[in-house]
Amino acid sequence: MAMRVLGIETSCDETGVAIYEEGYGLRAQAVYSQTVIHAAYGGVVPELASRDHIRKTLPLIRQVLAESGLASVDGIAYTAGPGLIGALLVGAGIGRALAWAWQVPAIGVHHMEGHLLAPLLEDPPPPFPFVALLVSGGHTQLVDVLGIGRYRILGESLDDAAGESFDKTAKILGLPYPGGPALAQLAQRGDPGRYRFPRPMTDRPGLEFSFSGLKTFALKTLQAGLAVNQDPDQLRADIARAFEEAVVETLVIKCRRALRLTGRQRLVLAGGVSANERLRQRMDEAIAEIGGQTYYPRPSLCTDNGAMIAFAGYQRLRAGQHEPLAFAPRARWPLDELSPPGESTATSSALVPSQVF
Ligand code: KG4
Ligand code: ZN
Repeated sequence: MAMRVLGIETSCDETGVAIYEEGYGLRAQAVYSQTVIHAAYGGVVPELASRDHIRKTLPLIRQVLAESGLASVDGIAYTAGPGLIGALLVGAGIGRALAWAWQVPAIGVHHMEGHLLAPLLEDPPPPFPFVALLVSGGHTQLVDVLGIGRYRILGESLDDAAGESFDKTAKILGLPYPGGPALAQLAQRGDPGRYRFPRPMTDRPGLEFSFSGLKTFALKTLQAGLAVNQDPDQLRADIARAFEEAVVETLVIKCRRALRLTGRQRLVLAGGVSANERLRQRMDEAIAEIGGQTYYPRPSLCTDNGAMIAFAGYQRLRAGQHEPLAFAPRARWPLDELSPPGESTATSSALVPSQVF
């Protein structure tokens, strides 16, 4: 019988729950965003996040079970890390308790593997191998992907993640949390020729990123503009536009470089920032120019969700991989410590990259 997996995502400020069915796809999904709770503080308050996950997770599980017409599932996948440790413990605790009650296997999923595999839920899915650009609130990584659990990190951010730099710059511009989508919206009114922000680390070889200087550049530009009495609304929009252009072009340059260095033709984008429309548009043009193909999840699967966790968990559960009763969520967890499904447990594997291949 087709395996059905319940996915639970509680690593940050979204409670995501979904049911993935082998051979069918997503049966049901629901996401509750805690935005209103954290907006007053200008960012995620970990303890409030944990408490709200406690309130929302079980009702959302009941909801997706009812929507899919199922009484139970064949396996449970929960995000085990990286993320806020209290928030992770909620999803892990509920996931394991339900698995025990239903007598089904459970598995802890790596949040970034969830993001990375989300494009495989689309039609057509990207065939392996491919290069993945993971751009979320906490991570910016270029990964060479040979198969599930066969990851080699090609480069990552030395400081702020791309999403983090969107959020911090949005704050400087007086936009409400969460800043990324709000900044993208403001940028649409900006004059693209007004300011030019640096494209960090593009003038030297390598696939590392550094976005932390852009927020300072934005602040200085804002202060200089206000000092000479520029119209504050237009000034903010122009800065948003220049900032977005700089991040997008930097990501495009590094992705093209990664394809060239690995010899791959396919580029997969995932994580919250991959919902950004200008990024998709510019990346599509730039990758088509060199004869490559781009793949993205639909926008609702770019940001945090339970579907990607159900799907990533399914890949491992179907190979017979699951976890003992004790579980250990991890606040920090390098993606390249994962191994292919069935080879060892997700949390205990500690392979160095050269062993992965
Ligand atoms: O993957 P995600 O939902 O959560 C993490 O794992 O971090 O990513 C959230 C990040 C936030 O920084 C948010 O501002 C950013 O993704 N984001 C965007 C857009 N939508 C979400 N950034 C730019 N443009 C967007 N449209
Ligand atoms: Zn995420």
